[in-house]
Amino acid sequence: MKLTKFILATCAIGLVTASVAHSQTVGKAEDQIRWRQSAFTTLSWSMARIKANVNGEFNKEQVVQAANTIQTLAHANISSLFVPGTAKGKGWKNTEVKPEFFTDKEGAAKAWATFSTEADGLAKVAATGDAAAVKAQFGKVGQSCKGCHDKFHVED
Ligand code: HEC
Repeated sequence: MKLTKFILATCAIGLVTASVAHSQTVGKAEDQIRWRQSAFTTLSWSMARIKANVNGEFNKEQVVQAANTIQTLAHANISSLFVPGTAKGKGWKNTEVKPEFFTDKEGAAKAWATFSTEADGLAKVAATGDAAAVKAQFGKVGQSCKGCHDKFHVED
């Protein structure tokens, strides 16, 4: 009896650990493609806002809002929306992911990590209000977007 309880408890702990380690897949394939396309569209909007600020009149509040949005999305685990079975399919439109994104796991992880690091840097300099530093770091974030797109995104 005691042994059975022990085994059951161990299994329960095992289940909890497993669900923490692997982030839960939510939604249908179509939803996942939509969500990731929406996240990237929001990134694009935020980058455009920063670009307008570094090339025109610099509004610190706007830059901070946009940089924080980029940083949040960089840590939102967008990669979890690229589940097997979503290499092809339609969200808001046909997916533009290259199949290599699912097979070159090391390359994909590196691209996400570079983007996260640069996004952290952008949020940091945005908070200082230093326009020149924001401009330089904005360039680095843009390079990290491009770095991933060159390898893993089908250009229109
Ligand atoms: C780690 C890889 C990666 C990074 C980093 C990345 N992207 Fe993308 N991006 C993709 C992939 C893959 C798609 C295609 C998604 C799909 O259609 O399923 C995409 C799609 C897009 C789209 C098209 C959205 C649509 O469907 O209308 C835009 C715009 C975009 N990204 C902008 C950006 C910007 C701006 C950044 C940086 C701030 C960025 N991306 C960073 C991989 C990346």
